Amino acid sequence: MAVKFPIFMDAQSTTPVDPRVLEAMLPYFTEKFGHPASRNHPFGWEAEGAVDRARAQIAQLIGARDPKEIVFTSGGTESINLALKGVAEMYREKGNHIVTTVIEQRAGIDVAKRLERQGFEVTYVPVQPDGLVDVAEIEKAITPKTILVSVMFANNEIGTIQDIAAIGKLAKAKGVIFHTDATQAAGKTPIDVEAMGIDLLSCTAHLMYGPKGVGALYVRRKGPRVRIAPLIDGGGHERGMRSGTLPVPLIVGFGKAAEVSREIMADEGARLAKLRDRLQDLILSSVEEAFLNGHPERRLAGNLNISFAYVEGESVLMGLNKETALSSGSACTSSTLEPSYVIAALGASAELAHSSIRFSLHRFNTEEEVELVGTRTIEVVHRLREMSPLWELAKEGVDLKTIQWKGE
Ligand SMILES: Cc1ncc(COP(=O)(O)O)c(C=O)c1O
Repeated sequence: MAVKFPIFMDAQSTTPVDPRVLEAMLPYFTEKFGHPASRNHPFGWEAEGAVDRARAQIAQLIGARDPKEIVFTSGGTESINLALKGVAEMYREKGNHIVTTVIEQRAGIDVAKRLERQGFEVTYVPVQPDGLVDVAEIEKAITPKTILVSVMFANNEIGTIQDIAAIGKLAKAKGVIFHTDATQAAGKTPIDVEAMGIDLLSCTAHLMYGPKGVGALYVRRKGPRVRIAPLIDGGGHERGMRSGTLPVPLIVGFGKAAEVSREIMADEGARLAKLRDRLQDLILSSVEEAFLNGHPERRLAGNLNISFAYVEGESVLMGLNKETALSSGSACTSSTLEPSYVIAALGASAELAHSSIRFSLHRFNTEEEVELVGTRTIEVVHRLREMSPLWELAKEGVDLKTIQWKGE
C-alpha cells in the first residue's frame, strides 16, 4: 500500500479513532439519542443500557470487579483533578500530605501545586536515570499525615512503566490511598486494579483509539471503600461524583475502544515493539551521540525517545514536519520551548533535554512507514549537525564544557 503523508508517529499525544469504534458510536448520534437518566421511556433505557455496557467494558480492561466503580469524566485531565482534589478535600481531617513523582504529566503536577497553595504538603519523589521510581523512596516519603500516593503508570514521554503492584502493596500496608494516572497505559499494557492494589485510576479514550473528550476515574468501592468529593455539583449523576449529562456516543466509543484494545493487546504490543525496535536500531546504528531515554525494557511497546546531542529537538521536527508528525518533549508542553522536565529529571543535561524526540507508534503504522521515518530522521539530524559549529568543535575533539563563551 502506498504510504500516505504526513506519517503520524505521535500516538502518545492522541490516537486515531479505530473504525470499529466509530461504527459503534454512530447510532448514538442519530436514532439512539436518549438521555441515560430518562427513567420512564425506551429512549432513556436504551441509552442507559449502552452506558452500562461501556462501564463493564472499561471495568474489564482494568480488572475492576464492579462496573459501578467506573466514573465517567471528560478525559484524563479531569480524572486526575477529581482523584487528587477529591481525596484532598474528603480526607483533609486525616492528613495534609501527598506523595507523587517529578515526572507526572502536567495535570498531576499542576494539581499538586494548587493543593500546595491551599496548604497541603507534597513530596515529589525523584526518578532514577532509567525513569523508574525507587519504591523505597516512596516508602521513605510516607508519613503519618500522608493521605494519598499518586504515581503514573506509564510516562507520556519516555514510556517507562513503573512497578505499580509494588507501590500498591506499599500503599496498602501503610493505609494510604493509591492513585495512578494510567492515561498512557490503559489498553496498551495489562492492568489489574485488584492484583495491583490500585484505589483510583485515571484513563482517557483518545489514547486507546477512542474519541476525544471522554475519560474515566476508577474509584474502589471495597477494601477499602474510597470516597472523593466531587469537582462538579449538579444532578448527582455518576453516584454524586460527577454531575452532568453523560456524552453517550463518546462513552459508547470509549467502551468499544477498551474492548478492542483488551482483545488485541498482546498481539498489538508484540507487533509495535518489533516496529519500535527496528526504528531504534536503524537510528542508533546510524547516528553518533544519540541516546535512548527511559528504561530500555520496561516501557510501552510503541514508545521510542531519543536525544540527539548538538541538535535542537524543535529543529529536527521542523526538518521533518511536512512528512512526519513526531513530538519533542510532551505534546502538552510543546507550545513552550522549555526543555523537557521529564528528560531533565533523568539527570540529562539541559542540552540533551532540549534535543529529545518522541516517536510513538500506533495500531495503523506499517513497516514501510518505520523505514521512511527512520531514514528521514537520520538525514535531518546529519544535515543539522553539518550546519552546527558546536558539532564541528566537538568533532575536532574540543570539550565544549571547557569553552568560555563571550558574555558569560
Ligand atoms: C500521562 C497523561 N496523563 C494525562 C493526560 C491528559 O489526558 P486528556 O488529554 O484526556 O485530558 C495525558 C494526555 O496526553 C497524559 O499523557
